[in-house]
Amino acid sequence: MISEKELAKLSHENAPNIITSTFPGPKSETLLKEAPAYESMTRGAGEFPLVFDEGRGVTVKDPDGNLYIDVSAGVGVNCVGRAHPEILSTIEKQSKHLMHASDMSNTKRGELAKLISSIAPPGLRNNCISYFAQSGSGALETVVKFARKITRRRQIVAFHGAYHGVWHASNALTTGDQYRAGYGPFMGDVIHAPYPYDYRFPFSNSEKTCEIIAGEYVDYLLNTPYTAADDVAAVIVEPVQGEGGYVAPAPEFFQLVKSACEKHGALFIADEVQAGAGRTGKMWSIEHAGVEPDMITFGKGMGGDLPMAGVIMRKDLAEQLDPMSQPQTFAANALSAAVCMKNIDILMKNDLISRADDLGTEIISKLREASSTIELIGEVRGRGLMIGIELVTNRETREPLGGETMNNIVGGLLSNGIIMVPCGRYGNVLRLMPSLTITRDYMHKGVDILLSVLASLDK
Ligand SMILES: Cc1ncc(COP(=O)(O)O)c(C=O)c1O
Repeated sequence: MISEKELAKLSHENAPNIITSTFPGPKSETLLKEAPAYESMTRGAGEFPLVFDEGRGVTVKDPDGNLYIDVSAGVGVNCVGRAHPEILSTIEKQSKHLMHASDMSNTKRGELAKLISSIAPPGLRNNCISYFAQSGSGALETVVKFARKITRRRQIVAFHGAYHGVWHASNALTTGDQYRAGYGPFMGDVIHAPYPYDYRFPFSNSEKTCEIIAGEYVDYLLNTPYTAADDVAAVIVEPVQGEGGYVAPAPEFFQLVKSACEKHGALFIADEVQAGAGRTGKMWSIEHAGVEPDMITFGKGMGGDLPMAGVIMRKDLAEQLDPMSQPQTFAANALSAAVCMKNIDILMKNDLISRADDLGTEIISKLREASSTIELIGEVRGRGLMIGIELVTNRETREPLGGETMNNIVGGLLSNGIIMVPCGRYGNVLRLMPSLTITRDYMHKGVDILLSVLASLDK
């Protein structure tokens, strides 16, 4: 396993270091103020009060020279950190050799498809075909199209709290009001079922866990007449729900869903865009459940700082698709493919995936311990380096902490040098999803600052 000393060399030293007397600093302030005049604030971060100027490892500088620890890794993208020296030398070498080749064969995408086949989860390993896209939304659009063609059915089951992207089919699967209100109608034939989110599950039963209830519900939906689910092509599920609040259900849920799919002839599709690429302590987060997906979607952390996404499907399924029926001009250009392979290589040869498991377990228990004295913390949960801290105004009623206080927390963290992007159905979940190359020292520093910001509000 890579040493802490080696990991430390990948980032700037002595972070965080805020040097401006006001926050944001004057240069950032000007850029933030003028942005809405030129760029649509529908973008992911909206008016998030930070301007990135330079990134190295898990550290980031703004244009005013303030240095931050980023515990969000570009929302899960920078699995091996920013500007990793091996990624940079791959970019340099490959960009001089070949970059764009349209959606035609190139040596690097061929090598990448073989590599993915060898590391795919059980059921797909050495028995799968890859399809390449450039974003998670693109991968989800594609998987819906493929599932319908393969099964010759039309309906898709997704879950409450799901985030699968914001295009046409993918936005129909995504549940957040913020992405939907006023934008419809979306693609039809999508049915949403309850996700086993224990902390806020709408049904209670003293004999059954929420995983069993939600899993049995999917079986009921698919295998009972008059539920309106009469023609289901696929069930699409996040093995750890990301934007919906970092919810990590127990394996029974996925086992029940898989067996409902098998009974009914629907495909089981795991969306690994946020939870994949080693973040949860396994290369694919569905591996924790011990079920074999028919297809998976990937994105974010696979690309090593460049856009890389796609679909991995079992061979017998892929063979039912027509050639040239899903072209994408920029898919798997040679540069993205070469960098994706290097990213996977860095993750594997340095044991960063099992390290994510160990470090994640250590941090979750530290946070749980701290929650005994910080009333705002309703629940700490997660898997590996995908950790959610749900904040509430009242532990009894579980009333979500309001938007204004959440903004103060995010601002408080930034002014103390920590970049953290919240998530959750009510926007009240702080998420820790750092690069897998974060040192223990920086991880603990980030958590200590976070806890002190929360403790100061708790008073
Ligand atoms: C689980 C999941 N699927 C799909 C997407 C969409 O990916 P992208 O933003 O690359 O389109 C996301 C993005 O957050 C995601 O978390």
